[in-house]
Amino acid sequence: MKAAVPVLLAALACAGAALAARAAELTELTGPQSDYVEHCSGCHGMQGDSYPADIPVLRGRVGYFLCTKEGREYLIRLPNVSYSAIPDDQQLADMMNFVVFGLGGPSVPRGAKHFTAAEIGSLRKQPLATTSLVDARNRIVGAMVRTCGAPKSMNRFYDPALLPQKY
Ligand code: HEC
Repeated sequence: MKAAVPVLLAALACAGAALAARAAELTELTGPQSDYVEHCSGCHGMQGDSYPADIPVLRGRVGYFLCTKEGREYLIRLPNVSYSAIPDDQQLADMMNFVVFGLGGPSVPRGAKHFTAAEIGSLRKQPLATTSLVDARNRIVGAMVRTCGAPKSMNRFYDPALLPQKY
């Protein structure tokens, strides 16, 4: 019976260490990641996968927009991005680089350049004021598919062929 107390204490210590390790894992987000979680993940999902909501899946897809000038500009001129509560252009550039190059992964065209603070500063002063974002997206994605090899599935907000697997 006497051995039971140290054994119990050791077990508790182990559980404590495991919990501490898990907590550290959860809090070790980079600045851009935590900006994404705070400002965007409510709609686009923690991993950029918003399916089944009718909101574009970013994971493995958003990088295709960099293949045309208009597509690249569209990403920043989206009202949710231009008007985001991130006032600092460098901070917004860092977050968008995480979104496009991190979440977008293999969809980013080879040789594509990261966003700079100066580019973000100028584009966010021209937010899209169109009545229909859907029409603007259709036009931009149509050109991406025709001219630079973006997959046809980009015409939709997610790729039905990949469901129900993860992106
Ligand atoms: C309130 C929900 C909501 C929030 C918050 C939001 N978005 Fe979006 N986002 C949307 C919707 C809906 C669209 C589709 C717009 C359209 O084409 O009609 C979209 C489109 C996009 C697109 C274009 C992708 C594509 O395939 O068309 C990108 C990139 C994007 N959002 C990034 C972001 C980022 C980065 C943030 C955080 C700063 C953010 N969004 C916050 C709902 C949201």
